[in-house]
Amino acid sequence: MTIQFSVSQDLPETSNAPCVIVGAFDDRTLTSAAARIDEKSAGAIKRLLESGDVSGKIGSSSALFALPGISAPRVLVVGLGEPKKFDAARYARACAEAARVLKGLPFDRAVSYLTEVDVPGKDAAWKLRTAAITTDAQAYKYTATFKPKEKSTKPEFGALAFAASANSAALTQAGAIADGIRFARELGNLPPNICTPHYIAEAAQKLAKEHGGVSCEVLEEADMRKLGMGGLLGVAQGSANPPKLIVLRWNGAGEKDRPYAFVGKGITFDTGGISIKPSAGMEEMKFDMCGAAGVLGAFLAAVELKLRLNLICVVPAAENMPGSKAQRPSDVVTTMSGQTVEVLNTDAEGRMILCDALTFVQKYNPQVIIDAATLTGACVVALGKHATGLMTQDDALANELIAAGEATLDRAWRLPLWDDYQSQLETGYADIANIGGKYAGAITAGCFLARFTEGYRWAHLDIAGTAWEEGRKGSATGRPVSLLVQYLLDRAG
Ligand code: BES
Ligand code: MN
Ligand code: ZN
Repeated sequence: MTIQFSVSQDLPETSNAPCVIVGAFDDRTLTSAAARIDEKSAGAIKRLLESGDVSGKIGSSSALFALPGISAPRVLVVGLGEPKKFDAARYARACAEAARVLKGLPFDRAVSYLTEVDVPGKDAAWKLRTAAITTDAQAYKYTATFKPKEKSTKPEFGALAFAASANSAALTQAGAIADGIRFARELGNLPPNICTPHYIAEAAQKLAKEHGGVSCEVLEEADMRKLGMGGLLGVAQGSANPPKLIVLRWNGAGEKDRPYAFVGKGITFDTGGISIKPSAGMEEMKFDMCGAAGVLGAFLAAVELKLRLNLICVVPAAENMPGSKAQRPSDVVTTMSGQTVEVLNTDAEGRMILCDALTFVQKYNPQVIIDAATLTGACVVALGKHATGLMTQDDALANELIAAGEATLDRAWRLPLWDDYQSQLETGYADIANIGGKYAGAITAGCFLARFTEGYRWAHLDIAGTAWEEGRKGSATGRPVSLLVQYLLDRAG
């Protein structure tokens, strides 16, 4: 269930909500709302901090029941850590901790005063938006493939008000971004026997039907053959699930305005193909369509916000399977651009579907092209699970995307795309090899894509490390929806 957000001007001590949320630092300094509650309850919070029953540590929280002199039956004290270290990331963490506790408690609404805390460099709108997005992300729960549960009679947490003077723009933005993130996470988490290329195409068509001003076109295999998309067709030929090329368009500006273009890798399952992957961990390759999910989620948010710009979203979707029809290592295919590629490793399939999508999108004459893809394990080695890999030859575009990531805590870190690396993609049998040898695998993948975007302002986001969390409970994060939407918001003025 999506959480309903609003603002509240109630005083914390007299709020009639079932729960109020306040903050305390680990040196026992209280936020202003916590101080008011402390004073009205004859020092209850300070006493508990001193006895150690309540902690101000970042990531901790304590629910206090029936404090004397306080109208709300519960006060949730959230730890904010060391005052000197408090920053945007810790603010988001505290908001997430509050939401984590709330969703387990037996009431449906609360008022948070965490938005009153000073966050260095951030304004009230940012605090509101970030609190709402992190709360909604905590409230999301994957249920699609469980036996439907009988409706519980227990009230479920569904509404949160923030202490703030009216700021409806920030909450509208947060709601749209949260919807985009939920969309991306749900698509990412669905199993690959459900989330096929066909399924993604239907989800895009549904999105278009439900939102005015959006058009959707789905290209089939025959269309791809006519266009000469040998890269996409080559990857898909080993699978019984036919590929789709999905095109969504939003015209929020004049007909003549050059669109922004998003392209997302939509491999619904990546076995590696004939260059098959080891079985341990292969189940994580259901997330190999998270680039597609991310650009579709960002597109949805842009449409909900009715951004005054034109936007195209192109998703090449296919399944990478071995089999008697699958492509072989050493196959040479001709891409839509006319360039030939020697497929030295069928597991380097992302770039093979993206190259045709990147050529295809140029017919819309976009002013900027941004692709998102779970492209390389090498990117995870280089940057881990925290930063998205950003590659572009356009310094201004790089800085705009880095800024959008910083602003939303959905951060990207730039890797070079120097021509020096291009020679790693040479082969004696085609214009380009699809792998670049053992060094700099994230960069050579980016270099491969660069050969299909010449003459355009283009950036590549490798989200292999950031698109999902690891482990048995691993789940899609919705990255880079926040980054992409912020980038568009900054452009739409
Ligand atoms: N989808 C994978 C990349 C990946 C691997 C993402 C692990 C997240 C976690 C991609 O298609 C792939 O297999 N890449 C190969 C490229 C190599 C064959 C040049 C890789 O990274 O090993
Ligand atoms: Mn692969
Ligand atoms: Zn892949």
